[in-house]
Amino acid sequence: MKADEIKKVLIIGSGSMGQQIGAACAISGIAVNMYDVADEVLVTSKERTRKLLGYLVKIGKLKPGEDEQAFLKMSFTADPAEAAEGVDLVSENVPEDPKLKGEVFAKFNKLCPEHAIFTTNTSTLLPSMFADASGRPEKLVALHFHDIRMTDVVDVMPHPGSAKETVELVRDFALRIGQNPIVMHRQSPGYVFNFMLSELFKTAQTLAANEVASVFDVDRAWMGVLHAPIGPFGMMDSVGLDTVWKITDYWAKKLNEPQALKNAAFMKLYVDRGELGQKTGKGFYTYPNPEFTRPGFVKGEYSDKNSK
Ligand SMILES: NC(=O)c1ccc[n+]([C@@H]2O[C@H](COP(=O)([O-])OP(=O)(O)OC[C@H]3O[C@@H](n4cnc5c(N)ncnc54)[C@H](O)[C@@H]3O)[C@@H](O)[C@H]2O)c1
Repeated sequence: MKADEIKKVLIIGSGSMGQQIGAACAISGIAVNMYDVADEVLVTSKERTRKLLGYLVKIGKLKPGEDEQAFLKMSFTADPAEAAEGVDLVSENVPEDPKLKGEVFAKFNKLCPEHAIFTTNTSTLLPSMFADASGRPEKLVALHFHDIRMTDVVDVMPHPGSAKETVELVRDFALRIGQNPIVMHRQSPGYVFNFMLSELFKTAQTLAANEVASVFDVDRAWMGVLHAPIGPFGMMDSVGLDTVWKITDYWAKKLNEPQALKNAAFMKLYVDRGELGQKTGKGFYTYPNPEFTRPGFVKGEYSDKNSK
């Protein structure tokens, strides 16, 4: 099979990422079956997908009318057999649990055509964790999306049993749906960008937790030197400080690393105050209109509570 022969895609799990990936495929003229566990869930997914497509028009990623055209390519069903019928590629987007992902792949292995390629959008797991359960390990790779509203970079990550042809096909498929694939040579947790980002978060936290520099000054350095619109702490606010704290704390305890434990404790101060970032209106910055977006921020006109 060639990428341009992919006519129908199945999205398993129609939550926030399922909606985005389904929309990206439909925009490219591919028929999409959105599958989820219950009709009630699908009602919400349908509404949110329509909103997402409308938003893509609003930000100029689509022309008016292209959103409706894309939406017409999408069907929503809670019937697994109907969802799997005639599909050429599957994108799995169920919650981050290796056992669940394995069960889902095993179920759809029985229902999908033999030629269908399986992809997972897992954030932190490795495809080898459910390759055997999928029943078609050679046809399985990770195809990992970021946020299609903001970026068009995806990771293609094989596991040791992925066929070379599968990797090439998924890379070509990513290009076909307007994404820029980063093809990895082998599996590694966190893919490419997220791996770098987690290291950046860690070093930024270390500087602030050790009182080497204030939060605002760390971001000013990053933004000022790179002419970047946001710094590491601004990015943490946008991810959510509860999520960043959970990941920091998990790895700190698992590796029993003193500096990482100190960084987790620093993050927890914000979490305990309910300052979770953009979503709660307060984190390292205040929202809307966070300090780092204001003129004069890089010049040092604002200071935070970690400033001396
Ligand atoms: N949210 C992100 O920023 C992001 C980015 C990249 C990758 N991911 C990964 O994408 C995956 C999905 O994340 P999300 O944020 O879309 O989660 P979500 O909670 O928004 O959606 C998950 C969906 O899966 C459905 N589901 C649960 N069990 C199912 C089953 N057995 N069969 C079919 N559907 C089932 C749920 O009903 C829900 O609609 C996760 O592996 C996550 O790590 C998330």
